[in-house]
Amino acid sequence: MNIPQHVAIILDGNGRWAKAKGMPRSYGHARGAKNLETICRDAYDIGIKYLTVYLFSTENWKRSRDEVDSLMKLFRSYTKTCIRTARENNMKVHVIGDPTAFDEDLQESLKALEESSKDNTGLHFQIALNYGSRDEITRAVRRIAAECAEGKLDPASLTEETISAHLDTAGIPDPDLLIRTSGEERLSNYLLWQLAYTEFYFTDVPWPAFTKDDLLAAIEKYNARDRRFGGRKES
Ligand code: IPE
Ligand code: IPE
Ligand code: MG
Repeated sequence: MNIPQHVAIILDGNGRWAKAKGMPRSYGHARGAKNLETICRDAYDIGIKYLTVYLFSTENWKRSRDEVDSLMKLFRSYTKTCIRTARENNMKVHVIGDPTAFDEDLQESLKALEESSKDNTGLHFQIALNYGSRDEITRAVRRIAAECAEGKLDPASLTEETISAHLDTAGIPDPDLLIRTSGEERLSNYLLWQLAYTEFYFTDVPWPAFTKDDLLAAIEKYNARDRRFGGRKES
């Protein structure tokens, strides 16, 4: 089987999964975070090299104060656990998105997580926190414009590579496969630039219930596709 090098996941459905069990949404988020640890190990066992997961969008601040607070609490504990699991599993963790909106202590923990795992050579694990693709592109354009104004970049020589190199995902290959769990079929402002030629896979399984077998099913479907990148397949 051809294993996609980079898999991106919109891990959705934590709230609905919990509700169906008569539990609060925060329980769904906690179980979702736990499942992420398992899926990271499974992904690497399968041979995936890059995994990029959507944990909190720039739009998720619109949720109730209670839910946002409980998510911030969860990110605090998740980040600390992740420092340990990254060490145990040789994972290199990189945060995409704009963490400056988070409390100082969470920003510090996220930096510590990146710093402590930066030399690891196993799974490259990107976590999207306060991430929105439009925000990422806007921040990139702002930096490019500043570099042009300083004379470091020439507007006439800007290329697609210049844009890619200024995104939060600089240096990371584009995803081969995007998975969204829990039935919705939209991008919700995720990796709009990077997903230009990515294969999409949607499943009804809610994130806390998503297993290695579900991941393998997505990869099987990916294998059955005929990727063309605009070219014509030779017969
Ligand atoms: C995904 O689960 C996790 C986050 C967006 C933080 P949801 O919280 O979106 O769960 P549903 O979609 O409401 O079921
Ligand atoms: C997308 O899920 C964001 C994350 C998974 C972090 P949402 O549940 O927030 O997206 P919408 O609101 O259904 O589009
Ligand atoms: Mg959702």
